[in-house]
Amino acid sequence: MKMKMDQNEAKLQAARAAIALLPESGTLGLGSGSTSKLFVDEVGARVKAGSKYRGVPTSQSTRAQALALGIPLVDDDVAWDIVLAVDGADEVDEHLNLIKGGGGALTREKIVNHAARKNVIIVDETKLSRRLGEKWAIPVEVLAFGVEQTRRCLAELGRTTRREKDGKVFVTDAGNAIFDIAVGPMDDPSIIDRAMRSIPGVVETGLFLGRADLVIVAGSSGIRTLSR
Ligand code: 5RP
Repeated sequence: MKMKMDQNEAKLQAARAAIALLPESGTLGLGSGSTSKLFVDEVGARVKAGSKYRGVPTSQSTRAQALALGIPLVDDDVAWDIVLAVDGADEVDEHLNLIKGGGGALTREKIVNHAARKNVIIVDETKLSRRLGEKWAIPVEVLAFGVEQTRRCLAELGRTTRREKDGKVFVTDAGNAIFDIAVGPMDDPSIIDRAMRSIPGVVETGLFLGRADLVIVAGSSGIRTLSR
């Protein structure tokens, strides 16, 4: 009989499955969000046990977690040699394209993703969809200067909501705003990505297209690893 796995348990299973893919040592990209947090805990346990990993954190909150766990961190302002980055996602389509940025860390996440030799995404099965946009709006980081002007342009692409947290306007680690743009299911997300990027003031979009090498999915039928 199949046991139903709860979402938190699934996240933990996905995080642990990613640990099995770690090299013996080296620099790791450390993602953000609740699933990545579980992965970072596991990395911390291995560092404590003597493994020689260093981390590049994708948010201030991951930085604080990694430091508390004793994971050595590489400086932000050097060129990195990231062997493997592990991060979560909000939505994953059948081509392994992603929507990320539910935690507002999308720009740092994309920089680290781009720098890494290999990218592994860890999700529970609720994140899977046939077409991106079925479940999530696209988070977009926008410079503070001209923020309402940039919103006006983004709103031509879909319903645009400024991200808030705890009743206050959300501000990213870089001091910028996040807008969530509900565009609906996309046949070709690269068209929307290009349209968003063509707007001055847009710093980065939460569309990660062709950026996942492996996606580890945990759910009631166990662990599946999807590759492109
Ligand atoms: C943060 C992210 C996260 O990876 C994404 O939101 C998934 O988070 P969670 O693991 O908590 O579901 O992109 O910017």
